[in-house]
Amino acid sequence: MKMTKPKMERTASDFLITKEYHKFEEFCNSCFRERYIGLCHGVPGVGKTLSAKYYAQLDSLEKFNLATKKTTKKVLAPKILTNQTIFYTANILNTPKRINMAIKNERLQLFRTRLEAYKLLKPKSNYEEDFRTLLIIDEADRLTMRSIEQVRDIYDRLENVGIVLIGMPGIEKRLSRYAQLYSRVGFLHEFRPIKNKEINFILQQHWSQLGLKLKKDIFSDPEVTATIARITKGNFRLIQRLFSQIKRIVTINKLSVVNKEVIEAARKCMVIGQS
Ligand SMILES: Nc1ncnc2c1ncn2[C@@H]1O[C@H](COP(=O)(O)OP(=O)(O)OP(=O)(O)O)[C@@H](O)[C@H]1O
Ligand SMILES: [Mg+2]
Repeated sequence: MKMTKPKMERTASDFLITKEYHKFEEFCNSCFRERYIGLCHGVPGVGKTLSAKYYAQLDSLEKFNLATKKTTKKVLAPKILTNQTIFYTANILNTPKRINMAIKNERLQLFRTRLEAYKLLKPKSNYEEDFRTLLIIDEADRLTMRSIEQVRDIYDRLENVGIVLIGMPGIEKRLSRYAQLYSRVGFLHEFRPIKNKEINFILQQHWSQLGLKLKKDIFSDPEVTATIARITKGNFRLIQRLFSQIKRIVTINKLSVVNKEVIEAARKCMVIGQS
């Protein structure tokens, strides 16, 4: 039987485009298209925040806004024009007024940047803004009752805004107490840890960063892979922390091979929070 190798894209900013990311992207696209309020929940460390930032192209936006050369801006401009997302992190001291102001400013900034990008690409033609926006609010668990009311108000007032609220598991139960907002929720999405099959590819990524000259087929060693998958349960944060411990052990002991024992030793140095 012919085995097809799963592919994994790697981006410049080291963000791995996983299957979970594709599902999240599809969920965000639907909330944007249908103008829904969507709830995304997932255990800590699975990659919700990083995925949302990647979806909102924060990297490109920052590079574009900081660039001083027209040529650099021009290269980034097509990407800027595909982005209609605002990423906002609810802070601990959130108040309705602050949220309203921040979102208003972010939206204005987004339109300004898009206009600048358009003018760079087509200086002679007229620009018509597409005002549809997706607003992603991370750490939505922090929103107070009054801030939740404010979010509902933004949703009702701005006719072309879809919203994604990101939080911990249980956020849907908490928000269900606010009947008016909850009745506007059109989608629920669980952000899950990466599956065992994909962990293999994550390993390749990090193993190369260890700088070890390992046999190529070390990644297909089912014992090593299975041990890492078992310890981390496909949680990105745990994988990263496990790898930093492996790196430490390899450096201290001047090892040239990473086997199951090394991984078990690394695990013992780690504090594994509930995931
Ligand atoms: N797709 C990815 N590619 C590479 N690294 C990732 C990816 N997703 C997550 N990570 C890594 O895992 C860490 C945890 O991710 P992130 O902060 O997005 O998790 P989270 O689900 O938002 O957690 P929390 O619920 O605690 O906020 C990040 O610091 C990042 O380094
Ligand atoms: Mg987060």
